[in-house]
Amino acid sequence: MKKRLTVIVDNNPFDERLKTDWGFSALLEIEDLKILFDLGNELRIFKDNVEKLGIDLSEVDYLFISHYDSDHIGGLEYFLEKNSTATVLVPYNPDYFGLNEDIENSGLKVEVVIDPIPIGPRDYKVFSTGVVSSFPRPEHSLYVFGKEGYSIIAGCSHPKVWNIAKRVEELTNFDYIDMYIGGYHFYRMNDEEIREAVKKVVEARIRKVGACHCTGDKAREVLRDLYGDNFIDIGVGKVLEWC
Ligand SMILES: [Fe+2]
Ligand SMILES: [Fe+2]
Repeated sequence: MKKRLTVIVDNNPFDERLKTDWGFSALLEIEDLKILFDLGNELRIFKDNVEKLGIDLSEVDYLFISHYDSDHIGGLEYFLEKNSTATVLVPYNPDYFGLNEDIENSGLKVEVVIDPIPIGPRDYKVFSTGVVSSFPRPEHSLYVFGKEGYSIIAGCSHPKVWNIAKRVEELTNFDYIDMYIGGYHFYRMNDEEIREAVKKVVEARIRKVGACHCTGDKAREVLRDLYGDNFIDIGVGKVLEWC
């Protein structure tokens, strides 16, 4: 099945028409299934980027909220204005930021995710990891099957990149991850900590790293040097296609 990932919000530049912002949002399309992963930070920037990319939010089938940090839910109000049919997937912790209340008032169906679940028809082979850890906050990630193995899309990877990768390896019986796209949350680390973290990424057998958002510039450079062609340079407006 054909997959297409369009990055709507990221702090790294790519498409010059679009504004960068500290946050993450991306649209994953698998044939006719549309999953919006997170909602960026500033509503105005999310809205502008959505419009410039020509994305019709009313067509989104699932809104996947990885976690409740403000840099992942900023465009919620605009999304709710545009979409009245999507199912919203949120990690367990329903009262945080009053998020569920906002969504529930909108009439959209909400699924509170604790354990791994399929998203959409089973033959699309796209899933939530379930909440991998509630520390420092509950977060779930998305994983999807492709010809070259499973790929992960993550918001901030607060439960740690290697723990999320391990969860997917356990769930799928694969001993590697094809791509890991999203925030790796290395931005507060010093050089020594980055070295250690990157070592763990390698040990988690992640083949291609699409490290963006809260990975931090320094860690991205280390990963770029190490992974070479297998470093996927994610930025706002980037489109990735695979099967
Ligand atoms: Fe974030
Ligand atoms: Fe976060």
